[in-house]
Amino acid sequence: MAIHKLLLLPGDGIGPEVMAQAKNVVAWLERNGIAKFAIEEDLVGGSAYEAHSKSISETAMDKALAADAILFGAVGGPKWDKVPYDVRPEAGLLRLRKDLALFANLRPAICYPALAESSSLKRELVDGLDLMIIRELTGGVYFGEPKTITDLGNGQKRAVDTQVYDTYEIERIARVAFELARKRRNKVTSMEKRNVMKTGVLWHEVVEQVHEREYKDVQLEHQLADAGGMQLVRNPKQFDVIVTDNLFGDMLSDVAAMLTGSLGMLPSASLGETDAKTKKRRALYEPVHGSAPDIAGKGTANPIAMIGSLGMAMRYSFGLGQAADMIEQAIAGALGKGLRTADIAGTGAKTIGTSEMGEAIIAELDGLAARA
Ligand code: IPM
Ligand code: MN
Repeated sequence: MAIHKLLLLPGDGIGPEVMAQAKNVVAWLERNGIAKFAIEEDLVGGSAYEAHSKSISETAMDKALAADAILFGAVGGPKWDKVPYDVRPEAGLLRLRKDLALFANLRPAICYPALAESSSLKRELVDGLDLMIIRELTGGVYFGEPKTITDLGNGQKRAVDTQVYDTYEIERIARVAFELARKRRNKVTSMEKRNVMKTGVLWHEVVEQVHEREYKDVQLEHQLADAGGMQLVRNPKQFDVIVTDNLFGDMLSDVAAMLTGSLGMLPSASLGETDAKTKKRRALYEPVHGSAPDIAGKGTANPIAMIGSLGMAMRYSFGLGQAADMIEQAIAGALGKGLRTADIAGTGAKTIGTSEMGEAIIAELDGLAARA
């Protein structure tokens, strides 16, 4: 049996608490002979800053480069609000994305029937929702140069961020979207602002060309990103795969996440290019939610997005689709029994903590394994 090199980076805030539950699932997979892992662990974000005065150490970066997959918790918190900009906790995550060339960020938004009531939208609008946002992750305004604040000397300062996209960056993310759509409901919606931005003009043109050349069988539509945001809350079930740039993808994926009832539910995958020789691709899996400093250490955080991220690693990095299905079924099973962490409980409903939810998911996995 192949041994998968897995690097755990729990990070800050609720990161370590939810990671502890994912570790239990890793142990369960090993115990049941489903997968074998060589596991490493290291610091990232504020916790790395405390230890090394930077948001990720070179040792941790070396481990990341050597790993088959990285499981990432969350970074940041008010404690580090005042640290220098280039060593702020978020810089550790951005460096991992950039240095590992993780250009494709897959953010599914799935509404479990048991949770349709927790959504801020009416049940009929979100029940059965299953869409995928493909966010470009290594380009655009996040990384474009110049990125500066200059003192103009007259009591004014000028801040500049730069939005840049080259053809190849748009081509490769468009391909990820079209390939994925073929395995789903065969529809891609591309979002940009070509009415205002040159990057939007090029984005639209290149997505059209890739479609025309390679993916004519997939239905393609374009929406301006602002209108797309409106459509996401008006009629989200019209979407299958949405492909968009780094900044629009950051915003639209938070909106999409809330449609499903809670930010605590959603996993994500950040993938690099597949190596032609080894057929492997670099990958980092993380919950969409942040470090939630307000509830950190209380044992109340929802571990589902973290465990779901491990499920995505099984599917996209280790070729263990069946294990991924089991993890998803176990999550749905625990929810189906009415178990709720605070973030997804209706007002007045009984809630359970992080470790109880983790244990309930393991119990569901035991049930599934016994029936298999
Ligand atoms: C996300 C986060 C990050 C981003 C932050 C933590 C840098 O909001 O993954 O969506 O803006 O990409
Ligand atoms: Mn975000």
